[in-house]
Amino acid sequence: MTATTTVDVDLFTDDVLDDPYPAYRALRDAGPIVWIEPQQCWAVTRYDEVRATLEDWESFTSDQGTGLNDAVNSALTGTLLASSPPLHDKLRGVLAERLSPRGLRSLGDQITRRTREIVEPLVERGSFDVVGDLARVLPPTIVADLVGIPDDVRPQLVPWADAIFNMMGPADKSRTFSGAALVEEQFAWLANVDGSMLTEGSWGRAIYDAAAEGRLDPEQAPTLLSAYTSAAMDTTINALGSAVWLFAEAPAQWRRLRTDRSLIPDAFNEVLRIESPLQFFTRVATRDVDAADTRIRAGERIMVIYGSANRDERHWGPSAADFEITRDASDHLAFGYGLHGCVGQGLARLEAHAVFDTLADLVTDFHIETPPTRHLNSAVRGLDQLTVSVR
Ligand code: HEM
Repeated sequence: MTATTTVDVDLFTDDVLDDPYPAYRALRDAGPIVWIEPQQCWAVTRYDEVRATLEDWESFTSDQGTGLNDAVNSALTGTLLASSPPLHDKLRGVLAERLSPRGLRSLGDQITRRTREIVEPLVERGSFDVVGDLARVLPPTIVADLVGIPDDVRPQLVPWADAIFNMMGPADKSRTFSGAALVEEQFAWLANVDGSMLTEGSWGRAIYDAAAEGRLDPEQAPTLLSAYTSAAMDTTINALGSAVWLFAEAPAQWRRLRTDRSLIPDAFNEVLRIESPLQFFTRVATRDVDAADTRIRAGERIMVIYGSANRDERHWGPSAADFEITRDASDHLAFGYGLHGCVGQGLARLEAHAVFDTLADLVTDFHIETPPTRHLNSAVRGLDQLTVSVR
């Protein structure tokens, strides 16, 4: 006997994007799998079900795109994000070694040095915008260096990525396609890239070398290049902005981290848990699936909401909404899980750990100067501006 729980909650209004947590809680309480009427798709919002859906990539595929509208889903088809084995493994394999813990080991010093170059002058100034001066500067600088991006397009990386994440939203919202011109601009640039434009020895050059050596189809190189630059921008930027905001709001947690640096990895996990930079992606059922008394039919789309799973009281307990850096949040789902789990998480951790460590050396207190403003985007969550003074 199966039943359908229908919920009339629009997850893409400005109010909900600004603060989605009451809506997520309502969905979690309504049932393990619910039909979202405004978006005309299923949603899984509880921790166990989100993890199980991500784990079962054969029943819940990314092959038909991970967004909520046909245009983005057909554009994504066949890319790393929207493919299954064997194609997925071939695409992921191109940079897997470089992004592995072993491959990243030699980058630690370089990232620490870059981080200090960016953070020290800001702290000396005494007051700065955490988002504009730090979070939107550090990941693009580091990633552009690693991927070997030419100087003239570097300023475009963040706007391009923001536009692509917006495009994951539903077709009936104006925000979804508001950056279409930027996405076209990126595609036009990608179409003209040849490997020699990317720094020798860089990750980008390695993608084009793989194509030249027949390990990759030449037409797959531009989308793979784009996957690494786009996925590495708003995600890490939002994580860094949210981190400083959370610490500024909870000075005792910051003092704790300053006195015990071994807490830095846990603290970053906790930031990602409580303010997951990527809030959702989608999957499509490849067969009729009976899950939690609900029948999902082959071909139906399911929103998988990482940002809700990471606040599910059923998994995290009654303090799920509290920021506690001593919590063991290492099994959060902010990097996804399973086949498509974030391939760049080692780099994101290196960047964030370097920022936390540098700030911990230099800053005893953050004082919020002006109330932070939120940057609304269909899929990623973060701040637009957070001006702090530091001591
Ligand atoms: C805090 C920062 C980051 C967060 C929260 C994040 C989050 C995620 C999530 C949730 C997924 C899974 C998508 C799915 O389930 O379909 C993912 C995949 C991916 N991420 Fe990240 N990411 C971050 C940083 C990065 C960085 C720095 C890079 C590049 C170096 C990167 C590259 C990718 C790529 C290429 C994929 C697709 C993997 C696949 O489909 O197999 N990410 N990321």
